[in-house]
Amino acid sequence: MKKAAECAEAIKKYNRALVISHIDADGLTSAAVICKALDREGMEYETRFLKKLDKPALDEIADLNAELTIFTDLGSGMVDEISKLHSEVIIADHHQPQKNQHKYHLNPHLFGINGTNELSGSGATYLIAKNMGSNRDLADLAILGAVGDMQDMNARRLVGMNRSIMLEGVDDGVLSFETDIRLFGRQTRPIHKLLEYCTDPYIPGITGDNNNCIQFLSKLGIKLKDGHWSRWIDLNREEKKLIVSEIIQLCLTRQVPAYKVQHLVGEVYTLLKEVEGTELRDASEYSTLLNATARYGHADVGLAVCMGDRGLAYVHARSLLAQHRKNLTEGLKIVNEQGVIELQNLQYFNARDSIYETIVGIIAGMVFSLGRINRNLPIIAFADSDGNIKVSARGTQDMVHLGLNLALALHESAEEVGGVGGGHDIAAGATIPAGAEEEFLKILDVIIGKQLKRLG
Ligand code: C5P
Ligand code: C5P
Ligand code: ZN
Repeated sequence: MKKAAECAEAIKKYNRALVISHIDADGLTSAAVICKALDREGMEYETRFLKKLDKPALDEIADLNAELTIFTDLGSGMVDEISKLHSEVIIADHHQPQKNQHKYHLNPHLFGINGTNELSGSGATYLIAKNMGSNRDLADLAILGAVGDMQDMNARRLVGMNRSIMLEGVDDGVLSFETDIRLFGRQTRPIHKLLEYCTDPYIPGITGDNNNCIQFLSKLGIKLKDGHWSRWIDLNREEKKLIVSEIIQLCLTRQVPAYKVQHLVGEVYTLLKEVEGTELRDASEYSTLLNATARYGHADVGLAVCMGDRGLAYVHARSLLAQHRKNLTEGLKIVNEQGVIELQNLQYFNARDSIYETIVGIIAGMVFSLGRINRNLPIIAFADSDGNIKVSARGTQDMVHLGLNLALALHESAEEVGGVGGGHDIAAGATIPAGAEEEFLKILDVIIGKQLKRLG
């Protein structure tokens, strides 16, 4: 908190700021948190959203000659280079940092706090905003970023500082939390669609089977239509409980592993200022909407929605969301058809130009949770990226417990082949030169083998 206060003080010495952030839900909400705080201070701001922070991007930032530059949800991997800017610099990030520190560098890892599940970029930015003025109501945006980064995935609830921030939001009346089914679309999808699209866990006889879902619900006496299709939020507590317990029963009789069945239930987060029955009301749906903007070059649209635009920007974001959903389905199909190749300590696929580099990581994560691939090996995905190769890697909590650190592994192996990489222990990325994939895989396979203490 001392560091957050120092960062806040430093910011308030200026009249305007350049905000640099990342093109995903956490990056957008981080930017929105700081922009709202700047606005309330009467400060002006300009924003830039980046796929990645590298030397060319930093050169462009330098050319903007800002007196104050605030990096959110990125920056910790480039502290040395950032320090060379002729600008006052604030960094609020949660990616694994370099050893070198900077005066105004707020990153949970520097304080022994886990940046994968205890604090997101938006959470770190919120801590600064809270020190700038009365900004506790921004806790909803901060939590949106954490959920967007799947920080609640392993425990199926927010933990650590994320939890404290969430409770501040509850206190402030902007958030609520409850234990419920953790399926995507509780606010907006018809119930039978909610079940049909459930892939984690894969529910035998339900997942992918529209007719069976309708039958299953009808047998339980659930009213499917009442003017419009009933959604999860239209059900009462007893109906919800009944459906959940029947699904669990079904899974167990069909030998779905207990740990997978557990994924069905956990905490969910509601944004109380938003209208019921819209994507914006549910943290998970809202963050997907945001990913659907920034990852396709429309960060301005996502930011406008975060800043409160419920007109044109919101309409645009919803149409981008529809396309994003199609792209994810299409991407999964491609990986399914193409298959995944196993090495000793990892498995991989190369999507080349068939999947956008900005969503190949999401697809790698989804392939993983579908559970039809080896759960003992991390998955590495390649996609073409402006003449280079984008790498995305995803692991599981079990592997992290065994020693896996994908951020370190990708950083090292990318560097060996002339690329750059980093991220988190459980999820990381890199950019490497085209043609270096095989060499990269060979090095990465050895490093991961050492981390997991496997022979190979
Ligand atoms: O930039 P960055 O911090 O945004 O993104 C974090 C990434 O880590 C997200 O893509 C998220 O899906 C992934 N993640 C994951 N499993 C977790 C936590 C995060 O795949 N348990
Ligand atoms: O792009 P992808 O979703 O696979 O990224 C996973 C994580 O690795 C994200 O947190 C992202 O910010 C990080 N990353 C990084 N350096 C890169 C590429 C990705 O820190 N060169
Ligand atoms: Zn993040």
